[in-house]
Formats: sequence, structure tokens, C-alpha cells
Amino acid sequence: MKEQRRFYNCRLSEKLLYTAFLLLISIGYLMALVYLYTSHEGHDSKPGLSIEDIVDTYYGNRSGSRLEAAIRGPMAGYIQQTEDRDQIVAWLKLGSPELGYRTVVRPILERSCLQCHSPASGLKVPDLSTYQGIQTVAEVDTGESLHTLMKLSHIHLFGIGLVALGIGLIFRLASVGEGLKACLMLLPFVAIFADILAWFLTKSDPFYAYTVITAGVLLGAAWAGQILISLYQLWFIKAPENNSFN
Ligand code: HEC
Repeated sequence: MKEQRRFYNCRLSEKLLYTAFLLLISIGYLMALVYLYTSHEGHDSKPGLSIEDIVDTYYGNRSGSRLEAAIRGPMAGYIQQTEDRDQIVAWLKLGSPELGYRTVVRPILERSCLQCHSPASGLKVPDLSTYQGIQTVAEVDTGESLHTLMKLSHIHLFGIGLVALGIGLIFRLASVGEGLKACLMLLPFVAIFADILAWFLTKSDPFYAYTVITAGVLLGAAWAGQILISLYQLWFIKAPENNSFN
């Protein structure tokens, strides 16, 4: 079999180019991790990144709307009769239509809530005196919209695809077994596909949050493996005596 070109066959300029690229990508990857942590952490109002944070991001917190939580919790005291509460909850379950707001819900709010929950009160509280205002607390939280997921996923697929290609092209010069090499090279592509597919699946079933995490860990491991092996071999492996390239 014809001998393959390896890191020790590279000239200094080529080694420097590969090293610079790998280091820059590593910093970028660490930045991405910190960003991921700070933007998802505490979604579920508990410290640290957890499976619930991922679920909240993509699936949403569907146990109900903020309005329902409020009238069952901190605002319950202002409700004058339990029927009022049941009527508001029934309206929420119908998807909070505008007609129902005007005929049923608004009169209840006028009696019990608007002295505080309207712009006239001057309080920094959700404005419940208009249909637009109540929307912000009436909607069930279903996580990131499909539109946002589509935007994020095409950016991720293009970006990560190119980075995986760049790292793989460098790593092909490593002296490791062909099987391991192929695995480490292909894993990032498989992982990013699974990851992004799982974002969409998590929207309908929170179970897939585990796939999001597993795929992310595999992507990181495959890249770390390729980058560390490449950096080590670029600078610490000497060419064997019978090397036909030099
Ligand atoms: C005496 C004033 C007052 C009245 C009356 C009142 N609220 Fe509130 N409400 C507040 C204040 C202050 C807050 C913000 C502090 C908080 O969240 O506890 C608030 C917060 C809320 C929130 C937002 C909760 C969140 O998730 O951020 C909702 C929804 C709400 N109230 C609904 C109602 C409803 C429905 C009624 C009537 C049944 C009502 N409130 C009556 C003062 C009032």
C-alpha cells in the first residue's frame, strides 16, 4: 500500500496553519459552551444546567399559563368567588379567545384585578385591561417557536458542518488506525444531525432532551479527540527513518 502523508511530513508553515486553526476553533468551542450554559441555565429557576432547562427551552413549561398560576397562587386572594376562577381557567383552556375575554373575563377582572392591573395604577404589573396585554400571561409556554428553531438549525448545520470538515481534513494526517480515524471524523456529523433533529422532537416530547445532551457530549468528545491528537502529533512525533516523503 502506498504510504500516506502524515503530520511529520508537513512543513513548518503548514503545521503552524493547522495549529492556529485548531486553537481558534477550541476557543470558539469553549465560548459556545459558556454561552450555552449561561443562556439555558436557570430556565427552570433552579441553578445549574439540567435536563429540565433543556426541556423548558424546546418543549416549554406546559403545566399552564402564568395567569393560571397567579390565580391559583399569589393572586388567589383577590378572586371574589371560586366561579370567577373557574371561568377564567375555562377560558384559558379554550385558547383564550378575544370574544370570551370581552364577555366573560374582562368583567371579572374589572371587579377584582384592574385596580392594580391597568396602566392607571402605575404599578409594574402585567396590564390585564386589554386583550393584547393579557396575552403575555395567558399563553401556555411551548418553548422556542418552530421558526426560531429553523433559523438556529440552518446556522448550526452550515457552521458545524464546515468546522467538522476543517478539523477532519487536518486529522486525516494523524497516525492512528483507520477505523478510529473514520469514527472520530464522522461522529461530529452524525451528532450534529441527531442534536438538531432532537430539538424538533423535544418540542413534541420532552424525552428527547436526553438525545440533545447525548449528541452534544459526543460532538464535544469527538472534536476534543481529533484536536488533541492532532496538536500532539503535529509537534511531538518525529518522522520514521524510512519515510518516503522527506
Ligand atoms: C392590590 C393589587 C393587585 C390586585 C388586586 C391583583 N394583583 Fe396581580 N399582581 C400584583 C402585583 C404587585 C404583582 C407583581 C408581584 C407578584 O408577582 O407577586 C402581580 C402579579 C400578577 C401576575 C403576574 C404573575 C407572573 O407570573 O409574573 C398575574 C398574572 C396577576 N397578578 C393576575 C392577577 C389577577 C387575575 C387578579 C385578579 C383576580 C390580580 N392579579 C389582582 C398586584 C395585584
